Amino acid sequence: MQRIPIVGGNWKMNTTRATAAALARAVAAANGTQDAVQVAVFPPFPYLIEVASALRGSPIMLGAQDVYFEPDGAFTGEISTSMLRDCGCNWVLVGHSERRHVIGECDDLVNRKVLAAVGAGLNVILCIGETKGQREAGEADAVNERQLRAGLRGVSAAQMKSIVIAYEPVWAIGTGLTATPEDAQAAHKAARAVLAGLFDPSTAQATRIQYGGSMKPGNAANLMTMPDIDGGLIGGASLNAADFSAIVQAAAPH
Ligand code: 13P
Repeated sequence: MQRIPIVGGNWKMNTTRATAAALARAVAAANGTQDAVQVAVFPPFPYLIEVASALRGSPIMLGAQDVYFEPDGAFTGEISTSMLRDCGCNWVLVGHSERRHVIGECDDLVNRKVLAAVGAGLNVILCIGETKGQREAGEADAVNERQLRAGLRGVSAAQMKSIVIAYEPVWAIGTGLTATPEDAQAAHKAARAVLAGLFDPSTAQATRIQYGGSMKPGNAANLMTMPDIDGGLIGGASLNAADFSAIVQAAAPH
């Protein structure tokens, strides 16, 4: 099964209106003819429209970093799926570890967001990953399995075409610590086995699973050679167009 690699740039709470547009233009210029890898960027909400226009005419896809599950109404501060589509988004991150562990989102909320986003025609990157303590306690696979089962509750095999999984070990995010290619591969293989049980083997084989956590130009190629690693979700290095583009190049099948 040939899976098209996908690389996402999660800009988190960084950039200004001007630097977001400039970064988007630089990413589009560097990756405009890239067709072996899908590329998406995830700017902060206020800059989505600006970035959408900077990306117009390029194959770079646009996503948001979060979404709320209700379609509209009295939910102060929240953003709906239709608002994201209205701003030109096709993608959304759901369940990022910073939302789970800093903001306090639970598995049930993550699941509602996944269902709402897919139901609204958005593509979803569902993020999973264990903390340092959970890894040291030997619970990494169990945590990832729980987050997958809970996050994908009620999702059909057909809807999995719109879902990418990002395995982002929390201890590797923004720390400069990266999972070894072997440890990351083991986690991706275990996640794919969970998908096979939840759906069926061919759905599991077709689902892209990205690695995230201090992926940089210097370590991307080794991670991408692993058979179950289908791209990356990049934080810090996505704020530099040259570094991000080098990672996109490393994800292209050789
Ligand atoms: P870093 O690449 O900065 O470790 O962040 C990874 C991440 O959280 C992407 O969503």
